[in-house]
Amino acid sequence: MDNKDIIILAVESSCDETAAAVVKNGREVLSNVISSQIATHSLYGGVVPEIASRQHIKAIDWVIDAALDEAGVKKEDIDAVAVTYGPGLVGALLVGLSEAKALAFALDKPLVPVHHIEGHIAANYIQRKDWEPPFICEVISGGHTHIVHIKDYSDFEILGHTRDDAAGEAYDKVARVLGLPYPGGPRIDALAKEGDPEAVLFPRVVLESDTYDFSFSGLKSAVLNYVNKAEMKGEEYNRADIAASFQQAVVDVLVEKAVRACNERGLKKLALAGGVSANSHLREEMLSACNKEGIELCVPDLVLCTDNAAMIGSAGYYEYIKGNIADMSLNAYPGLKLGER
Ligand code: KG4
Ligand code: ZN
Repeated sequence: MDNKDIIILAVESSCDETAAAVVKNGREVLSNVISSQIATHSLYGGVVPEIASRQHIKAIDWVIDAALDEAGVKKEDIDAVAVTYGPGLVGALLVGLSEAKALAFALDKPLVPVHHIEGHIAANYIQRKDWEPPFICEVISGGHTHIVHIKDYSDFEILGHTRDDAAGEAYDKVARVLGLPYPGGPRIDALAKEGDPEAVLFPRVVLESDTYDFSFSGLKSAVLNYVNKAEMKGEEYNRADIAASFQQAVVDVLVEKAVRACNERGLKKLALAGGVSANSHLREEMLSACNKEGIELCVPDLVLCTDNAAMIGSAGYYEYIKGNIADMSLNAYPGLKLGER
């Protein structure tokens, strides 16, 4: 390893994945270890915060050791410890944060606070080593839906956000009504492949013509009403058609807003981030819309779309070189907004 290389150990525990990674110079992933709690939470139909915290406590030590081992890096050789400090579930965040603080203190290394969404955005820097700001990023996860103008590595302008449910939340709720287990996104993605996206015309809520805000709760309710009505009347309905029609309504809105933001800002570069960007239909439709408009599209690999610590290591690198170092009083902020410190 070069003397000038910056090695970051990153820790992520904001929701239901306990994750640690070692990242070199913000772009090269030396290890990316994820311990998923999905199997446990799916028994309850969603993430149970108290169970999440307990599972993080069980996993955090071995996940960090495994990340260091796999990277072939000794604790003493890292330059900084980066950690997600918000947004997320407070109890879950505190597990990763306490561990990162203890490590930074014991090793006498800087502690770098990372915003979870900034991490999702940074997944694109790992995906494409040559990908640089400025660009438009559509952040679509279980808890967030944002269109962001990325002006520089940590200079963001939020152009729009959801006024109610996040895109992933709508996926998860619709999946539940269709009898699919948590998390619903990947299940709907798979089921929709067997259905007709034009079978049912669900509403595309674009709101005012000039806004980048989203609203998914009307669409979610329309699907729930459709299914409930059919069940009450004892009518048959095709679950695959509903999944495909719902998904098409989400994808149409996500594509329209992202492409419009690029064109209006005169930025011919678009990146996707967050769990919903793993959606296969969205990836296809976004790519074809971008090709038509001459927009270059960057989409992280599946493992970098959903929660992981490599993305935190990348965002952490850019915070570190800017000198954003926290002291031992750093707390967890469950409702932290993007661009807030
Ligand atoms: O980014 P993420 O892992 O966690 C948050 O920060 O929220 O996103 C999780 C969300 C869940 O709602 C999940 O259903 C959704 O991403 N998701 C998908 C797919 N894979 C995960 N949604 C649609 N299609 C997928 N293939
Ligand atoms: Zn996330």
